[in-house]
Amino acid sequence: MTTSDVIDFGNGQPSLSLLPVQALRTAADHFLAQADAAWLQYGADPGETPFRETLAEFLTRHYAAPVGASPVDAVQLMTTTGNSQALDLICTRFTRPGDTILVEEPTYFLALEVFRDHGLHVVGVPIDDEGMRPDALQEALTAHRPVLLYTIPSFQNPTGITLSAARRTAVLAACAAHDVLVVADEVYQLLDFGVAPPPSLATLDGNARVLSLGSFSKICAPGLRLGWIHGAPTLLEQCTRAGLVQSGGGLNPFTSGVMRSLITLGLLESGLASLKRVYADRAGALCDALRDAIPDAEFTAPQGGYFVWVRIPGVSAAALLEVARRAGVTFHAGRRFVTRDVYGDTLRLSFAHYDVAALVLGVERLARALATVRAQRG
Ligand SMILES: Cc1ncc(COP(=O)(O)O)c(C=O)c1O
Repeated sequence: MTTSDVIDFGNGQPSLSLLPVQALRTAADHFLAQADAAWLQYGADPGETPFRETLAEFLTRHYAAPVGASPVDAVQLMTTTGNSQALDLICTRFTRPGDTILVEEPTYFLALEVFRDHGLHVVGVPIDDEGMRPDALQEALTAHRPVLLYTIPSFQNPTGITLSAARRTAVLAACAAHDVLVVADEVYQLLDFGVAPPPSLATLDGNARVLSLGSFSKICAPGLRLGWIHGAPTLLEQCTRAGLVQSGGGLNPFTSGVMRSLITLGLLESGLASLKRVYADRAGALCDALRDAIPDAEFTAPQGGYFVWVRIPGVSAAALLEVARRAGVTFHAGRRFVTRDVYGDTLRLSFAHYDVAALVLGVERLARALATVRAQRG
């Protein structure tokens, strides 16, 4: 990038330089050398068994670190084309227009669009430093009789907050008591900066009505459009009975074959380790720059994921955004991540797309824009 380019902290995509072209070429060669035409056929409804077995083994290895996670079995996995598609499919199969669902407040703004597509009524459950507040969840379960809870338990988008182990158990118990399906969007579960988050919800006891959604978008490349749903086979059957799957066959068999080779060759593992180092450096640099340039900014340094959630007391994020655009920097205002008029003084900054120098420059521009906003207010 050049210094005249706008730095878009709203961009939640990896930098092009982090996308593993060479590794995927090696994996694709390895996969195609097997000359197995079956991978080019319509796929099996839940996805190809060899891919799901390899994925189950990979997840078991990566989920094993935290105490309390049970092993993953291939029969508990369904191949998807990523978490967005999985979420849409789950809404199709488990909800009806007009149903109420619960989400964290704030939550991933594009998930809100999926819910809108399905005519769902969305109610937010407030969070604190440990994630969703159990008292507020309990209240919402009783008051709204939702059909589903959507949660991003690890390194949440937009806040970076991780639901604590105790709360994971409490959330599952509360939803089980109300027979509410838990949909855990775990797109950042494997993207920690050194300390693994508590176990994936689908690996915990009391998980009878939990679907955990995983994706290769953040741990490999979003353009692959490949992910998985992890849950009880009876729940997965409801997903595979969808017209989409019945007509089109299992989702994305060819890419899942390439991914199987990537995993088998150890290239997913090595790529993930290096991504974590890069993102940890970038997150650290962004937080340092914020502390230096905007000392009254309030945030918690993220321990994984893509985002820093920054409150600037007394400042309207919408007003700041207008001035910031002219100063060559943009971001998503907090208001985008909620269904009510809250978080007006908060911004979401992504550190995934830019290198350290660009992140520091972006914060300098943001600080200048902030000074202008404050001067205008007098
Ligand atoms: C919480 C969350 N869910 C889902 C997605 C999209 O996932 P996928 O690329 O697997 O569809 C994102 C991407 O930013 C995300 O932050």
